[in-house]
Amino acid sequence: MPIFTLPNLPYSYDALEPHIDARTVEIHYDRHHRTYLNNLNASLEGNENIVTGKTIEEILANVEQVPTEIRQKVINQGGGYANHNLYWAQLSPNGGGFPTGKLAKAINEQFTDFNKFQEAVTNQAKTIFGSGYAWVVVDNASKKLEVMQTANQNSPLSVGKTPIMTIDVWEHAYYLKYQNLRPTHIDAIWKLFNWDQIGKFYEKALK
Ligand SMILES: [Fe+2]
Repeated sequence: MPIFTLPNLPYSYDALEPHIDARTVEIHYDRHHRTYLNNLNASLEGNENIVTGKTIEEILANVEQVPTEIRQKVINQGGGYANHNLYWAQLSPNGGGFPTGKLAKAINEQFTDFNKFQEAVTNQAKTIFGSGYAWVVVDNASKKLEVMQTANQNSPLSVGKTPIMTIDVWEHAYYLKYQNLRPTHIDAIWKLFNWDQIGKFYEKALK
C-alpha cells in the first residue's frame, strides 16, 4: 500500500493549450510527477512509522526529523512530489486575470500593485540558474507574502515558508514547446494562474 498517491490532474492534458502544450502536460504529470511520487514511496519503505499520518507538507517542514540515511531522498523526491501537487492545482484553463480579495489586498500592500508583484515573481523565475522554482510564499513567522527561488526540488516548507504559487523552470516544464526560450514560457504561464485557488492557499497559509 503506497503511503502517498498521485492527485488527479484537475483538467485534461490539452486544457492548458496554447500556453502549455498537451504533450508537455502529459509527460510532466504522468511521468515526472508520478516518478517523484513512486521514488518517494520507495524511499520510505521500512520507515513508514515516521511518516504515517503526516502530510508531505508536514514532513518537509520538519525535514530535520527524517532519518539522515533517507533525508536527502525525501528532500528530492518528496519535494518533487509536493511541488508538483501545488503546481498543477494552481493552474487552470480559465486562469489568468488578477487576484481578488485578501490576496489582492496583500499584494497591493506589499508590492505596490499587481504589475510590481508580477515583475518580482517573474524576475525570480528568470534568474534561476539551472533547474528550480520561483515561489510566492507566506513567511510562517511574519505572515507576509514573499517571493523567492529554490534550486532542484527544494521546498520553501523546509525554510519556514508556506508556498501558495510557483513557476517550475525545470526544462521538462517547457522544453518541447519553447526549447531554449525559458523567459517566453515564464511570461505565458501568467495566463494560467488560478487566482481563486491561489487565494485559498493564501488564506490557509495565514492560519
Ligand atoms: Fe516539474
